Amino acid sequence: MDGSQSPLKSPNDIVLARQLVRRAAQELGLSLVDQTKVVTAASELARNALIHGQGGVMTLEVVENSGRRGLRLTFSDHGPGIPDVNLALTDGWTSGNGLGLGLSGARRLMNEFTIDSQIGRGTQVTVVRWK
Ligand SMILES: Nc1ncnc2c1ncn2[C@@H]1O[C@H](COP(=O)(O)OP(=O)(O)O)[C@@H](O)[C@H]1O
Ligand SMILES: [Mg+2]
Repeated sequence: MDGSQSPLKSPNDIVLARQLVRRAAQELGLSLVDQTKVVTAASELARNALIHGQGGVMTLEVVENSGRRGLRLTFSDHGPGIPDVNLALTDGWTSGNGLGLGLSGARRLMNEFTIDSQIGRGTQVTVVRWK
């Protein structure tokens, strides 16, 4: 369970995070389609941490469950938090001028999705894709 952390503080950090996730997904042996799903989800969640969460950190881990391996990504920030998580997970809902498909899309693209957000404290989103 080696975890690596990368900052999400600038647009270029998003590019770097995408590259790290792509490489990890390749090394895990995910199919090209699954690699793209994971990179797309990571990109959306990293962007959310940067734009809505005032910057954050991505943690990348290889996890194992009953001999099955997976990639677990955690995006955490100390931003304003999300007042209504269910609303935020609605397709097309945005508090700003985004497309409102980041959270809902990431949930669909991954096998596991958990979100913990507290007003004034921040947001943590953890996603897993199993091989
Ligand atoms: N890390 C975060 N911190 C605070 N609010 C967030 C965060 N991530 C998502 N949100 C809120 O959830 C909404 C929906 O997110 P998302 O589906 O990615 O759409 P978009 O980013 O296009 O607005 C955002 O508009 C924002 O209000
Ligand atoms: Mg978004």
